[in-house]
Amino acid sequence: MLAFLLGPGECDDGLREGYFVVVPLLALAACFAGGALAQSNALPVAAAPNPNLAFATLVSHWATDNEWVGKAGSHNLPVILLPIAVTNTTSEAAPVMVHFGCGFFEVQTIYSDGAAVLRNCSVTLFVPIWGRAQLLAPQDVPLNASSPISVEIPGVMNGTLAFYLKNDEVLMAWVLDTPFVGTLDEPGLSVFPTSINAHFTATQLQARFCRAELQQLAKPSTPSIVPPTTNATSNDALLKAFFEDFLVSPLNGTFAVQTMGENQYHVEESFLGIFSIDGSIDPSSLTAAITPYVRIPVSGRVSLAELNGNLLDAGSGPVGGVFANISVVLAQGHVALSARPTLEPGQEGLHDLYIDANLNISMIGAFNTMGPIKVLSLPF
Ligand SMILES: *[C@@H]1O[C@H](CO)[C@@H](O)[C@H](O)[C@H]1NC(C)=O
Ligand SMILES: *[C@@H]1O[C@H](CO)[C@@H](O)[C@H](O)[C@H]1NC(C)=O
Ligand SMILES: *[C@@H]1O[C@H](CO)[C@@H](O)[C@H](O)[C@H]1NC(C)=O
Ligand SMILES: *[C@@H]1O[C@H](CO)[C@@H](O)[C@H](O)[C@H]1NC(C)=O
Ligand SMILES: *[C@@H]1O[C@H](CO)[C@@H](O)[C@H](O)[C@H]1NC(C)=O
Ligand SMILES: *[C@@H]1O[C@H](CO)[C@@H](O)[C@H](O)[C@H]1NC(C)=O
Ligand SMILES: *[C@@H]1O[C@H](CO)[C@@H](O)[C@H](O)[C@H]1NC(C)=O
Ligand SMILES: *[C@@H]1O[C@H](CO)[C@@H](O)[C@H](O)[C@H]1NC(C)=O
Repeated sequence: MLAFLLGPGECDDGLREGYFVVVPLLALAACFAGGALAQSNALPVAAAPNPNLAFATLVSHWATDNEWVGKAGSHNLPVILLPIAVTNTTSEAAPVMVHFGCGFFEVQTIYSDGAAVLRNCSVTLFVPIWGRAQLLAPQDVPLNASSPISVEIPGVMNGTLAFYLKNDEVLMAWVLDTPFVGTLDEPGLSVFPTSINAHFTATQLQARFCRAELQQLAKPSTPSIVPPTTNATSNDALLKAFFEDFLVSPLNGTFAVQTMGENQYHVEESFLGIFSIDGSIDPSSLTAAITPYVRIPVSGRVSLAELNGNLLDAGSGPVGGVFANISVVLAQGHVALSARPTLEPGQEGLHDLYIDANLNISMIGAFNTMGPIKVLSLPF
């Protein structure tokens, strides 16, 4: 990622596309703010001794400011809501670009107060490690439709989506069979209020992200990993192959992309819906350098710590392995990674990777593995 090689102290809104979902929003806001964001170039960049802390602070503020708590739907499924003016009028019925994320879904549409339609509504699914897969191409979606919309990624997943009005809120419902977490089923989650005319101001955005701060974000995932064994050309076929090659456990939605270099084994793994790790392990000594992350809808992944040490050590913490106390604005608790000899018979010399995490995560809540759980069989 070239962006990380740029010197500190630079702040601008010309960030890489796909680097962070806020990027197009920043660009958009700059258009409507008449370049007011350009002032952010002059903002001093606070010294950030701990990159994880600096970034978690930013994301935490941003997520807190944009969290929407509606009246209906599953508990523990926060909606991150980003309403942005699409005209320079501030009347109640002025259209607003609504971008929101909840669970594995992200939606972008245009809505006007009182309208019975979501204009140019597109729905994407966040597939762990892979990135985004489009479920619904941009289209007008009536809010009074009598039946839900069928969606499908051929050979991969299928189901229905629906949007409807209830009281003074727009609700989203889905039933979707996925190969990675089984059926996702939600009869109706409040995703935004019908009186959505609050404009996201340039000042609000300006206070959030600048390039130097985004550089603090640990290495972003590589989108659309192409499995080496396939000749697939279409995106759907690639996604299908991705599931075939890298899905470890559909029960926990565990994906792992593992590559063995000359002296280093590299792994990027996503599990339990929000967690991921990315790093490398020396197969001969089991010394590791691994970063754990949590994923916040729409925002991207947030690094918690840098774990360096030997996975076989008894460890400095109470649970063994490479241990870190986490105390960033976004999350408090601990994470430990360890390797243990595999329990499978006839697998002498092989190890399994375990994680032990107990975290309070902003927006998501308590996350406790209740002791070490196996997340991966290591090939050494
Ligand atoms: C809003 O935009 C229109 C044209 O797009 C322009 O004529 C008008 O002056 C603008 N109003 C304000 C308050 O900037
Ligand atoms: C519709 O939405 C897509 C992406 O969500 C965007 O690229 C396109 O420009 C939008 N079209 C209109 C007419 O707003
Ligand atoms: C939804 O509303 C539109 C326009 O208001 C109307 O033409 C259509 O018949 C309605 N559909 C249903 C299923 O009520
Ligand atoms: C997905 O397709 C299969 C086969 O057609 C069907 O049995 C299943 O009900 C569909 N799943 C959903 C959620 O609609
Ligand atoms: C890929 O295409 C080549 C040439 O068409 C073919 O020989 C090979 O078997 C294909 N591989 C797979 C995995 O389909
Ligand atoms: C799934 O996660 C649970 C803990 O939440 C763990 O006990 C279980 O072993 C995991 N199952 C698989 C197949 O990874
Ligand atoms: C983690 O925090 C606990 C309690 O605050 C402390 O006793 C322990 O020394 C810390 N461990 C590390 C490795 O920082
Ligand atoms: C999480 O927060 C609760 C309530 O504030 C507290 O009791 C618990 O100890 C915290 N857990 C961790 C891992 O920090």
